[in-house]
Formats: sequence, C-alpha cells, structure tokens
Amino acid sequence: MILQRISLSFGILSLALLSACSEPPGDAPGAQDRSAAAPTADEGSATPRREFRIPPEDFQAVPARGADLFAAHCAVCHGDGALGSDQGPPLIHRIYEPSHHADISFYRAVALGVHQHHWEFGDMSPVTGVSGEDTAHIIAWIRREQRAAGIQ
Ligand code: HEC
Repeated sequence: MILQRISLSFGILSLALLSACSEPPGDAPGAQDRSAAAPTADEGSATPRREFRIPPEDFQAVPARGADLFAAHCAVCHGDGALGSDQGPPLIHRIYEPSHHADISFYRAVALGVHQHHWEFGDMSPVTGVSGEDTAHIIAWIRREQRAAGIQ
C-alpha cells in the first residue's frame, strides 16, 4: 500500500501585517494621513496570522530581563535605550505612552509586525524568537524607562 502525502502550502508566509495601532494617531505630525492610507487587511491571504500570546496576569515581568531582550532583538532599529535610530523610531516617546499604545500594541507589534503609519522608516516585520513572556519583560522595561522620562 502506497501512502501518498500531499502537503499544500497556503502562503503562510504572506502574512497579513496589520497595523497594531487602532487608535487615532492624533499627536504625530502627518500621521492622520498615513494612517488613513494604510492597508487594513490582506484579504487575498488564505491564512492571515493574527494570533499573539499574552502571558497570564500573574506573570512577573522583570525590567532588567526586558532590557537585555530589547538590546538583543529591538535595539537594532529602535536604538540603544529605545531612543531611536536611523532604522526605527524611539519608543521612549509620547506617542508610545500607555494611553496611546497600550501593552497589547507591543504584543501585536512583535508577533504580527507593524505597517508604517506613524513614521517613515517603513514597516516593522514580525520579530521571531521573542515569546509573549519575553515581550512582557520588554514592556516592563520600556514602561519603566518611559516613566523615568516623564512619559506615562
Ligand atoms: C527591523 C526594524 C525593527 C525591529 C527589529 C523592531 N522594530 Fe518595532 N518598529 C519598527 C518601525 C519602523 C516601527 C514604526 C512603524 C510606524 O509607526 O511607522 C516600529 C514600531 C513599533 C511599535 C509601535 C507599534 C504600533 O502599534 O504603532 C512597537 C510597540 C514596537 N515597534 C516594538 C518593537 C519591539 C518590542 C521590538 C523587539 C522585540 C521591535 N519593535 C523590533 C522597526 C523595528
């Protein structure tokens, strides 16, 4: 008996990179226009990937671990200390304060990527190898740095 296995790939790599920012970006110069122009969904994709993981509420995020994870995975674009680089924006910035970019926008950004909408650095691709727990550590560190800079 011959077992035939036909594996079909439905373009899993053509991910729908949705904007992780659902709130109106009122405080970025010109952001309103770019946001309106951003694609809202990739309807041609058979398997849009929209899942992201958030650790349980009692998860103990450790800012110092977040600092290391950020340096390893994010600083190449967001700069040392999340102060920005020529590849990406600063996250220690009023645009990313919790009331405008809640923690969920970080989980979404890391897992799903971000369409360019606030800045002109291009899109952010999903970051592989960074778990929901890792992201929680990173968020804890970024929020601490934001508070230290008077952003809250
Ligand atoms: C290859 C470059 C690159 C890397 C690596 C990168 N980012 Fe980004 N990220 C960007 C750019 C560019 C934007 C701005 C998109 C815009 O708004 O125009 C962005 C935006 C964001 C946003 C805002 C999302 C929103 O809803 O507007 C968050 C949060 C974020 N990044 C977190 C991270 C974290 C955490 C990491 C590391 C795990 C990371 N990024 C790694 C390029 C990068």
